[in-house]
Amino acid sequence: MQIITSIQDLRAWRKAAGVVAFVPTMGNLHDGHLALVTEAKKHAEKIVVSIFVNRLQFGQGEDFMSYPRTLDVDAEKLQAAGVDVLFAPNEMELYPHVSQHYNVEPPNIQNELCGVFRPGHFRGVATVVTKLFNIVKPDVACFGKKDYQQLAVIRGFVEDLNMDIKIVGVDTGRAADGLALSSRNGYLSEAERAQAPQLYQALTQMAAQIRSGRQDYAKLEQQAVKTLTEQAWVVDYVEVRNTHDLQVAHAGDAHVVIVAAARLGNTRLIDNLEIHLE
Ligand code: PAJ
Repeated sequence: MQIITSIQDLRAWRKAAGVVAFVPTMGNLHDGHLALVTEAKKHAEKIVVSIFVNRLQFGQGEDFMSYPRTLDVDAEKLQAAGVDVLFAPNEMELYPHVSQHYNVEPPNIQNELCGVFRPGHFRGVATVVTKLFNIVKPDVACFGKKDYQQLAVIRGFVEDLNMDIKIVGVDTGRAADGLALSSRNGYLSEAERAQAPQLYQALTQMAAQIRSGRQDYAKLEQQAVKTLTEQAWVVDYVEVRNTHDLQVAHAGDAHVVIVAAARLGNTRLIDNLEIHLE
């Protein structure tokens, strides 16, 4: 595996690379990330993974400074997974015009769900992913369904801005107790880690009710918020949305997703569960 840090060197490699699949990450890799690599290999001869902790997508008071940076261990995992190139640019390489850069501005979806609690987050994601796409020029790019709204935003700008890239969504990798794998799980204390599967349990219980025919989504959402709050979570949202456009789901919709974000102590966790009723 080659480790490339400059845009120029990445471009030179890419010219001779044939069909390329790309997995953008912020590092501190876990099995969820590696599942994206496994999926990527089904689509291309060459695999590029990027590691870049993107300042633009972190808000004031969020964990940009403390975000785990573990490049050496990550590189070993990617090498073992058969990745061809690890692209790991530094900040000056990607953002030479620190305060004067252009943005990719998502439409109103960026102000909903996580966007309510993380203003500017999806603009930061859309901007960096666009830049990475323009550098790597992949044929295929893989993203986790774990970050469901992120995947929707990425599908949105790729289609709307006519980018010729196939976007593949990959199922959420979970620990044995159901907790969605996340670099941020490392922030949890032992007691919080033991409690953390409650979020997925709340979604699973809600999904069972929806599968058994309940369509009073607002009421189910309130119940889930109540349950989690009683278990000492601070809930940002639990909502039932449409899978295709992430708009509010209505009774009769066949493909819905329960999306949720909630905090345990200082750690904010997100999760979701798709339900296909046909
Ligand atoms: P990061 O959180 O490192 O995630 C990188 C990719 O791994 C994303 O596509 C994310 O959805 C996926 N992923 C994370 N946890 C997963 C899990 N448990 N199962 C399956 N996939 C999982 O998402 C980002 O970085 C950034 O926003 C990025 C897209 C790289 C832009 O900076």
